Amino acid sequence: MKDKLQLFLKSEDIETLCEQLGKKIAEDYRGKVSETDPLLVVVTLKGAMFFAADLLRHIDLPVIVDFVRLSSYGAGTQTTGTVRILKDLETTPEKKHVLVLDEIVDSGRTLDFMIELLTRRDAASVKVCTLLSKPSRREIEVKLDYVGQEVEDRFLVGYGLDHAERYRNLPHVYFIP
Ligand code: IMP
Ligand code: MG
Repeated sequence: MKDKLQLFLKSEDIETLCEQLGKKIAEDYRGKVSETDPLLVVVTLKGAMFFAADLLRHIDLPVIVDFVRLSSYGAGTQTTGTVRILKDLETTPEKKHVLVLDEIVDSGRTLDFMIELLTRRDAASVKVCTLLSKPSRREIEVKLDYVGQEVEDRFLVGYGLDHAERYRNLPHVYFIP
């Protein structure tokens, strides 16, 4: 199946997006966070691991990185609608400025759940950054503060994105035909 994948976004283009997003994020938070009050970056596993690694290197600010693993998907390509916490944060978000990183926003349910959770845990602020967004698939409106690129309604793999846990390790992003 790998030879049938259609290239969508090359690693060089992803790198450019990470650089632009990282610079913008650092500008926006400058003065708001400090060595004693760093930005809490919440990475949604597993998909956002590559994006987080690349983006974080362009965020020139004091940061703490933590991970959360949520699930709303079965083994297929359709959401089941319910979000579950498979691995919770190890950091208390209370009074912290929080930036959630996701690799792609589809229905919006995962991020809506995260924003609600962090707000309930008294984060000082919650913002969201995603590499990709499929606006036509949205079921819940979520405010996306930083978006790398919008995409049409096609299923994507590579650069952390999986199909039934496969293809995460591909350096570029592909459409599944
Ligand atoms: P949402 O809750 O429907 O917005 O789904 C978000 C999550 O579903 C993303 O963080 C991905 O993990 C996964 N997802 C959505 N679209 C795709 C895709 O095209 N390929 C791979 N995973 C996807
Ligand atoms: Mg994800």
